[in-house]
Amino acid sequence: MFQILHRDGLARVGELEIDGKKIVTPALLPVIHPFKSEPWISVAKQMKLNGVITNSYILKKGGYEGGKDVHDLLDFPGLIMTDSGTFQEHMYGELKAGNLEMVKYQENINSDIITIRDIFSEMDHSREKIEGDIEENFRRGREAISETRKCVALPIQGGMYPDLRRASARMMGSLESQYFPIGGIVPLMERYMYSKVAESILNSKMNLKSNSVIHAFGAGHPMFFPILFLMGVDVIDSSAYIKYARDNRILTETGTVELDSFADELPASPYFDRYTAKELAKVGEEERISIIGMHNLYVSVKELDNIRQQIKTENMWNFAEYRAHAHPLLLEAYRKIQEFYEYLEKFEPHSRKSPVFFSGEETLNRPDIRRFKSEATLEQTGVTISKKPFSYYVEKPTEFVQSQFGTVSMFMDETYPVAQSLFPGEYYDTSKDITKFERPEWKEYLISKVNYIFKYQFGRELYSFLDRERITLQRSKNTGKIRNILYESKPILALRASDGLFSLNYDGALLIHSNFDYPSHRVVIDSEVVDFVKEGKNIFAKFVDDADASIRPHDEVIVVDRDDNLLSYGRAVLNRDEMIEFQRGIAVKNRLKSSDPS
Ligand code: GUN
Repeated sequence: MFQILHRDGLARVGELEIDGKKIVTPALLPVIHPFKSEPWISVAKQMKLNGVITNSYILKKGGYEGGKDVHDLLDFPGLIMTDSGTFQEHMYGELKAGNLEMVKYQENINSDIITIRDIFSEMDHSREKIEGDIEENFRRGREAISETRKCVALPIQGGMYPDLRRASARMMGSLESQYFPIGGIVPLMERYMYSKVAESILNSKMNLKSNSVIHAFGAGHPMFFPILFLMGVDVIDSSAYIKYARDNRILTETGTVELDSFADELPASPYFDRYTAKELAKVGEEERISIIGMHNLYVSVKELDNIRQQIKTENMWNFAEYRAHAHPLLLEAYRKIQEFYEYLEKFEPHSRKSPVFFSGEETLNRPDIRRFKSEATLEQTGVTISKKPFSYYVEKPTEFVQSQFGTVSMFMDETYPVAQSLFPGEYYDTSKDITKFERPEWKEYLISKVNYIFKYQFGRELYSFLDRERITLQRSKNTGKIRNILYESKPILALRASDGLFSLNYDGALLIHSNFDYPSHRVVIDSEVVDFVKEGKNIFAKFVDDADASIRPHDEVIVVDRDDNLLSYGRAVLNRDEMIEFQRGIAVKNRLKSSDPS
């Protein structure tokens, strides 16, 4: 029901399909009051939202009968999720609404995603109470799953106790559902306790399968969106747009502004183009709430569109870090996320499309940078060079260079993140200067560089199994940069200009296959798709049997059958767990060419 279309670390653009209804994630489901759905349903359609959430408890209490279809009531053909009354219990005290009763009711009104009647873990609930409640929620989840074939949302509770969040996630995750809201976080968000929210979400997510759809319940303020989606949240619902509007509060991507604090002009918005701030303040209450509410929803939807683009361009860390600087408590949450290094690292590529933009000490603590520092920096001192690529600006091949990431070998000067990063005070010269590459010592330097980068990327020196005398390099005529590595005149590797790492050719894949033991760098596939893979078709997660656990998204991999026969090679889209857990979507982009031997 869920697949990844684009990803950047944990953050992902996905497609969720339930009973033929599709939504693109990250998705925002606006909270719609079932009996006061206009103008919001029309606005949601205008904004091309194809999912909403409404409340089955209010519907049931209001006398809406089972057997009718909530899509007709709301006049909304898209995906409708329903909540169960739990939030009303949190707000107003104990409710008479049993779990099975609410589950059956939601099924009867044809909700697309139904939510169990979970017990809300409040901030002040004791550990003992929450322990009992997450057990009871698990029982209710199991009961719901056995009673309906619909998609059932199983909220993860656990209050402020990280270990109980983890336990709740493991319990719920053992049931037959793929949809997991993170519950009980609204009171934390209302108090701007973003770091606690981040901790609750990550402790839950890391104990669920990677193909789980993560929904942050009530995560309404757009200033928090980048942090949420950086952690791999897929869906949020929000009533903030209307709640804030009732208090004359206008949402922006970086905060909230009171209507009466605007000097004159309101922020640019299609919903404000007829009013100045003073004029809007004089509009009748109901209309004013609608206008501000529409603007608030619009800002939220725009920020979400923006985030999908940031994911697609693999710029999420830069973007979330930039946004996090809008508020110290967002920055605290961003730092909290970085504490989950061991988990985050598994999803981090060795290079991304976007360069690293330095914006403060936190930049150097991102998981890809931390891994790079642990794997590629050296206990040395080196020369400091303020122009990139470093090697163009030295008289002779210097061994070590003092980069902002720490001391690195000069051989890494074209490789991510050393080359694809920007720091204040640095200068990137794009003019071409190849003269020094013509000298004999530079030829030697380049040959050694190939060996070094290969070891960083694949874990073993290239010349430990190849004779370096039989290596030749093809270099760019314009820039002198290495382009292709040939062994006995056959191309084996191409050095990508974009990130200074290698792409495999067919003969390179053969070398990996014969010089690295199973399961290194391998993705193992089902026998039934062997022929497709040999034709160059992409490898879908559904057909992956096993894979090397050290594979990260974007890594170069070889594709083999169960007997370790080499079939193909390509670029991983997913890490190992994702390849195994996802049932939909591409796991490896195949690069086998028709000219490659079959
Ligand atoms: N809405 C906001 N928080 C919650 C929660 O914890 N559970 C449910 N069911 N709905 C919510």
